[in-house]
Amino acid sequence: MRVLVINGPNLNLLGIREPAIYGHGTYAELRSFIGQVATDLGLDVEVRQSNHEGVIIDWIQACRDTFDALVINAAAYTHTSVAIHDAIKAVDVRTVEVHLSEPKSREEFRHRSFIEPVAERTFSGRGFESYADALRHLAKG
Ligand code: DQA
Repeated sequence: MRVLVINGPNLNLLGIREPAIYGHGTYAELRSFIGQVATDLGLDVEVRQSNHEGVIIDWIQACRDTFDALVINAAAYTHTSVAIHDAIKAVDVRTVEVHLSEPKSREEFRHRSFIEPVAERTFSGRGFESYADALRHLAKG
């Protein structure tokens, strides 16, 4: 199974960015963690990050030809982007939402997710392990 992992804005700053919320692990460490979990599960995973909504939408649109599933941490776009919601709906590829933190226990503006209604599952609040949960869920079939 080929899985595309998309990380949204500011996740490239992991390790520096609000470590009390997101932990001390860097983005490079997140990438290698995901790679290790994928290898253990026998998944073929590609990990990408962008700070740009349109780039993320282009990747989602293109993924239907090259990937069997999508894992997305849309970061702040989770709470604002009807366009990412629409793109996921348009491609009809298995999609799992992830978050490092637990947005629903944070500020009220993080309580609404535009990704949740178009994702088959959401895994959040477990740091890097949220990604492992998402990959394990996909590997189960
Ligand atoms: C996040 C939660 C979002 O509310 C926030 O804007 C992020 C990261 C998370 O992984 O916990 O950038 O998606």
